[in-house]
Amino acid sequence: MEFIIVTEQYAPAVALIQLNRPKELNALNRQLMEEVRDALKLLDANANVRTIIITGNEQAFAAGADIKQMADMSAIDMLLIDQFSTWDQIRKTKKPVIAAVSGFALGGGCEFAMTCDMIVASETATFGQPEIKIGTLPGAGGTQRLTRAVGKAKAMELILTGRFMPAEEALAHGLINKIVPVEMYLKEAVALAQEIARMSPVAVQLAKEAVNRSFETLLDEGLAFERKNFYLSFASADQKEGMKAFIEKRKPNYTGK
Ligand code: CAA
Repeated sequence: MEFIIVTEQYAPAVALIQLNRPKELNALNRQLMEEVRDALKLLDANANVRTIIITGNEQAFAAGADIKQMADMSAIDMLLIDQFSTWDQIRKTKKPVIAAVSGFALGGGCEFAMTCDMIVASETATFGQPEIKIGTLPGAGGTQRLTRAVGKAKAMELILTGRFMPAEEALAHGLINKIVPVEMYLKEAVALAQEIARMSPVAVQLAKEAVNRSFETLLDEGLAFERKNFYLSFASADQKEGMKAFIEKRKPNYTGK
């Protein structure tokens, strides 16, 4: 891995992927995103890992797709390289993925954070889709995910002006989960990751799948999907353990089965 650092057991049951192109503000070149995709695939299959955190550094989560790599490409080059299919794979990770964001999360960086399930931000985090300022538009989900997260008016304003949005504004509009002081953002993401890691991994996977389905379906279909996952959870030993522990007034011991 050249552009990321992966720590499989960053904290019990939590893995960390750190984007590591600091001089380029973690600009997301194709190799970096392929490395992220491959790392996520391995971590998703690793039974010792229950939640995954993706982070950058204090200055930048990521300042976007690598403009220097794209600048001279033709539309057909872009079509054939199809770099965003890598990002589609990231979205398919079954375990929860938390973005721990400090500094710039712009363009593809904002889109990457929005591809994650939750965003914990430092007070210096800045979000935006500035592609319009370089003669193009978001290409990795920004027009769709930002609009679903913050609504049409705010998304239209941000995407058509390229204005950067500070963390407080992002929180106020539902894009992110919380803001903490800069020295705390990774710790806070780990605390959230560990809280989830203490739950039944089967239930967590089924719940993540059901929440994500709400973006893809009409309500009736989404409700039917949720119900089936709810029933499916009753096939797990963890559901029996969770309910028994409640009745016996003790902490559950989940095995992931
Ligand atoms: N691609 C390639 N290199 C980038 C980059 C990017 N997205 N963002 C920053 N860099 C590089 C700079 O070129 C610079 O490198 P050099 O020292 O070799 O010149 C280095 O990172 C530091 O950047 P700056 O000197 O510009 O730092 P700054 O603090 O003055 O400004 C910034 C920071 C406001 C984030 C500015 O770098 C910037 O505007 N970056 C581009 C943001 C952007 O437009 N992102 C969208 C990219 S397109 C996209 O993402 C498409 C998509 O939907 C997938």
